[in-house]
Amino acid sequence: MNGYRLGATGIIITFFTIITATVLLPMVLFNPTKTVQANNYTEPSLVTDADPDRGRKIYVREGCVYCHTQFTRLQDRGYGPLVHAGDYVDETPHQLGTARTGPDLTNEGGRMSSEWQKAHLVEPRAVKPGSIMPSFSYLSHNDMADLVAYLQTLGNSRKVEHYVEAPEEYKSFLARKKVDTESDAAANAGRGIYTQNCAVCHGLEGLGNGPNSISLEKKPANFTRAFYKQYPDDFWFYRVREGVAGTRMPKWGETLSEEQMWYLVAYLRTLPKDQEEVVSRIDQLNKITPVELPRLSNQVYEPKTGGAGEE
Ligand code: HEC
Ligand code: HEC
Repeated sequence: MNGYRLGATGIIITFFTIITATVLLPMVLFNPTKTVQANNYTEPSLVTDADPDRGRKIYVREGCVYCHTQFTRLQDRGYGPLVHAGDYVDETPHQLGTARTGPDLTNEGGRMSSEWQKAHLVEPRAVKPGSIMPSFSYLSHNDMADLVAYLQTLGNSRKVEHYVEAPEEYKSFLARKKVDTESDAAANAGRGIYTQNCAVCHGLEGLGNGPNSISLEKKPANFTRAFYKQYPDDFWFYRVREGVAGTRMPKWGETLSEEQMWYLVAYLRTLPKDQEEVVSRIDQLNKITPVELPRLSNQVYEPKTGGAGEE
């Protein structure tokens, strides 16, 4: 009998020690401060009257969290910058999720146009053949608009942290760069190269919606996202030169010269980086919002002389 009591007490003590150490103590002691990149869905959208805060409640109500996570880890390359504990302090209930039946949505905002998001929610198979995501076509116009507005806020205030850094050698590319990437004429040269090589996938306006994008599983980047504001030159150059592993984005270093790639960097920098388009009604699905492209000069760019040549 005594042995039994001792055993039971031992089990109970062990149980509570574990619960205290892993649940109760962290609850009391772990108070991360809010980060600047915490998702800001409470601010009303400037573009439409859709309400992202209400959209978040619909996201919770519809159980999107059962299939979608909202946390990116070091190993989640394709999902964008990492998250921090402080990103979630105001989120009750948080939408971290546990299962990735669908992709992580931490940085979903701006990845697709709002029209795409809406079409996808109405009938996922219409835009993603073979998708197992259920259709949410029963949502009212308002619910749909708010939900899409919420999706478009995801990750938008996230700063680019160089979770993938441009490797050391890119410092030397930067050092021997002969193209002034801030020059209008260099951007103009880049525009030509872009139209020829990149627009089929990334779209003429950089929205990631070129004709080829339809058939790609991993969609081309949308350069008008606020997310790209903080890409430094060497990082742009690195992304263009090496391509993106696991996607159809080519390694442009194989076919373009260094000079041409710097022109592209000059052009990519000029694309507007705060596009936030949201359609509010289902009958506007076909609406194409014109993007204001930068007005560039038609001057011919003269590269600086001196410095080591690349070819
Ligand atoms: C049964 C699981 C499931 C549920 C529930 C679900 N999804 Fe999905 N979702 C998926 C799968 C699987 C994919 C990947 C295939 C695709 O894109 O359709 C996906 C893809 C997505 C994408 C596309 C990501 C991208 O950029 O390619 C978005 C956005 C999305 N879901 C939003 C939502 C929202 C919002 C809800 C709730 C209203 C939701 N999902 C509910 C399974 C689910
Ligand atoms: C065959 C289609 C295709 C073509 C052509 C293409 N890209 Fe891409 N690009 C992609 C895809 C797909 C991605 C990956 C997006 C992602 O990671 O989500 C990508 C990503 C990128 C990125 C990285 C963005 C990031 O998030 O860091 C840059 C920069 C880029 N492309 C520039 C270019 C330039 C410049 C050209 C033309 C010289 C070009 N691309 C041509 C498909 C293409």
